[in-house]
Amino acid sequence: MWNSFPLPPFTPLYLVFFFLLHHLICTVSVESSSPYTSIDQILLNCGSFGNSTALDGRTWIGDANSKFLPLEQSLNNHASLTLIAARQSPTAAQVPFATARISLSTFTYDFPVTAGQKFIRLYFYPASYSDFDRSKALFSVRAGPFTLLSNFNASLTADADGDSGDTIFREYCVNIEEDQRLNITFTPSPTVSDSYAFINGIEIVSMPPNLYYTRAEDQGFSFIGQHNLYSIKNSTALETVYRFNVGGRSISPTEDTGMFRGWSQDDKYLKEYNVLFLPFNDTINLSFATVPAYAAPEYVYRTARTLGNDTDINLSYNLTWEFPVDSGFYYFIRLHFCEFQPEIVQPSDRRFRIFIANQTAEKDADVILWSGGNGVPVYKDYAVPIFTKERDKKVNLYIAIGAEPRRWMTSYQDAIMNGIEIFKISDSSNGNLAGPNPDPILVTPPTIEPPKQSTNSKNSRRTTIFVAAGGVTGLIMASILGFLIFRTGKKEKNLSCSTDWTTWRGPFSLSTTKSTKTCRSSLWVALSRPIYYAAESQIQDIQDGEESQGLRPY
Ligand SMILES: *[C@@H]1O[C@H](CO)[C@@H](O)[C@H](O)[C@H]1NC(C)=O
Ligand SMILES: *[C@@H]1O[C@H](CO)[C@@H](O)[C@H](O)[C@H]1NC(C)=O
Ligand SMILES: *[C@@H]1O[C@H](CO)[C@@H](O)[C@H](O)[C@H]1NC(C)=O
Ligand SMILES: *[C@@H]1O[C@H](CO)[C@@H](O)[C@H](O)[C@H]1NC(C)=O
Ligand SMILES: *[C@@H]1O[C@H](CO)[C@@H](O)[C@H](O)[C@H]1NC(C)=O
Ligand SMILES: *[C@@H]1O[C@H](CO)[C@@H](O)[C@H](O)[C@H]1NC(C)=O
Ligand SMILES: *[C@@H]1O[C@H](CO)[C@@H](O)[C@H](O)[C@H]1NC(C)=O
Ligand SMILES: *[C@@H]1O[C@H](CO)[C@@H](O)[C@H](O)[C@H]1NC(C)=O
Ligand SMILES: *[C@@H]1O[C@H](CO)[C@@H](O)[C@H](O)[C@H]1NC(C)=O
Ligand SMILES: *[C@@H]1O[C@H](CO)[C@@H](O)[C@H](O)[C@H]1NC(C)=O
Repeated sequence: MWNSFPLPPFTPLYLVFFFLLHHLICTVSVESSSPYTSIDQILLNCGSFGNSTALDGRTWIGDANSKFLPLEQSLNNHASLTLIAARQSPTAAQVPFATARISLSTFTYDFPVTAGQKFIRLYFYPASYSDFDRSKALFSVRAGPFTLLSNFNASLTADADGDSGDTIFREYCVNIEEDQRLNITFTPSPTVSDSYAFINGIEIVSMPPNLYYTRAEDQGFSFIGQHNLYSIKNSTALETVYRFNVGGRSISPTEDTGMFRGWSQDDKYLKEYNVLFLPFNDTINLSFATVPAYAAPEYVYRTARTLGNDTDINLSYNLTWEFPVDSGFYYFIRLHFCEFQPEIVQPSDRRFRIFIANQTAEKDADVILWSGGNGVPVYKDYAVPIFTKERDKKVNLYIAIGAEPRRWMTSYQDAIMNGIEIFKISDSSNGNLAGPNPDPILVTPPTIEPPKQSTNSKNSRRTTIFVAAGGVTGLIMASILGFLIFRTGKKEKNLSCSTDWTTWRGPFSLSTTKSTKTCRSSLWVALSRPIYYAAESQIQDIQDGEESQGLRPY
């Protein structure tokens, strides 16, 4: 390749060119490590000054004196305050949970962002902040014309799992038109006199156009139980309610394709399944010929769940997931597939059925036909209305896959699923996405659904353990000490920390992050001791086996 350059060798120009080209190649290779690079990426650490670095290495900027919080709001102490929680769980000691902006009156963040579709992520740590009692946090959050949260009782939401000290995470998708700004407004409930609003962190990340929103020229996708097609319009907002790497490990935001989406394990939501059939292929070279490479991380397409290895097993059950969702909304469901088992190469090798909300979504699902071949990822979209008589209640949305009963139709009577994403679609009449607060939790013995042929109760244990060195003492201590060290000029040279994300529990709770942080500084060693912290998300575990400690509120 180098020989084919028309330039004569050994000229300075040649060397300059060589250098530039080399540099260019390096730059390109760095950028191509993640299939998507977001245009806008704002990480706002609310109630804080200056920059701070989160465990994953990303820099969060303080909202105080920032361009996102109008100056008058920042200065007016009655309008909003910068506070640190009185007590912090290990998760909450991390950026951005350690500090909060709190107010008894409405406050607005104003984000100058480019036009296009964005993720908005909200991080809350309901705790008592100074004189603000934990139970008095009751507020609404609006983003542009959309109501993201309404009458949101933060402490109740975090406690719905019976574990106080939890953090709350929410993810939304909105489309920003040209010349529009993104305003996010927090309003304390007008019905309760001393209620207040608070926020710990706001993240805004742009997404590739039409990743979830329907392209103008597309007709749309299958609308379960209806004859027409459905499309996600620019005038709607979405809330991520679930995002799973089916049959695989959880995937942390930094391992995503550049949009910082977290993908959780699906185990807790399985209703009918067989733990023995978790095929994976970690050597296959995926070919993104049908869907863009940023659709989902490769891990999602390299792991799956299937039904079984003989007709009796395969035909005896539907592999079923049970997802509690708010009634009174339409839901957008994206199912990810990839055939990576070497024997499935042709259409009709593995043909199966997909059921959504107890209705047949696909009678002849055929991943090879959809994707074009083995090792080629593909996804399919569906919309489903979930309206029940009991509004304002959680109801179960079932997603199931089952084998084709007619032997002659397919080579393998089996089914496969690699990934699931479920979004709530905003109400087209009023832009609402907010659901009711959860019911207060009463401690009752758990109802256990015995898993089919489960021989592996250890592996399916649901309690996630958080391990952090330097935890409880938390950010406050660390920052005070850090400040002192900084003041006295005794800089730590060895402050090298590495974080290993192994579990990220997804849309509902960040608290189950299992993160092992190794820090070599003497400061950190002095503060450090391992913390074992078990937490549950507010969507209840469907626990199995004797280790069950969960509750089933729904
Ligand atoms: C904080 O981080 C932002 C973005 O990473 C950077 O532009 C800014 O200069 C930083 N500010 C300080 C005070 O370090
Ligand atoms: C939605 O908005 C995006 C830009 O934000 C634009 O590229 C796209 O064409 C719009 N879609 C429709 C259906 O108008
Ligand atoms: C939030 O819910 C908790 C638990 O049910 C309750 O004690 C508290 O009063 C509620 N807060 C408000 C402001 O309604
Ligand atoms: C956003 O907020 C700014 C400042 O508060 C205001 O000037 C602007 O009109 C608002 N924009 C929208 C679309 O609400
Ligand atoms: C994947 O691609 C790499 C590099 O192109 C090659 O070395 C490897 O053999 C391929 N693996 C498979 C399973 O085809
Ligand atoms: C993974 O896929 C490659 C390429 O199709 C195949 O050669 C290999 O046997 C597969 N591995 C497993 C464990 O299925
Ligand atoms: C099915 O798989 C199980 C577990 O891998 C194995 O023990 C059993 O022998 C297999 N049965 C057949 C018929 O292949
Ligand atoms: C799978 O679910 C469908 C729809 O609910 C049902 O008709 C079918 O009988 C189920 N199959 C099995 C094996 O349970
Ligand atoms: C839907 O399917 C699930 C799982 O198979 C079942 O438990 C539930 O009763 C079904 N609901 C209705 C309304 O048929
Ligand atoms: C059942 O599924 C397995 C893959 O998990 C497949 O190997 C087997 O051939 C299927 N059984 C039948 C009868 O097709």
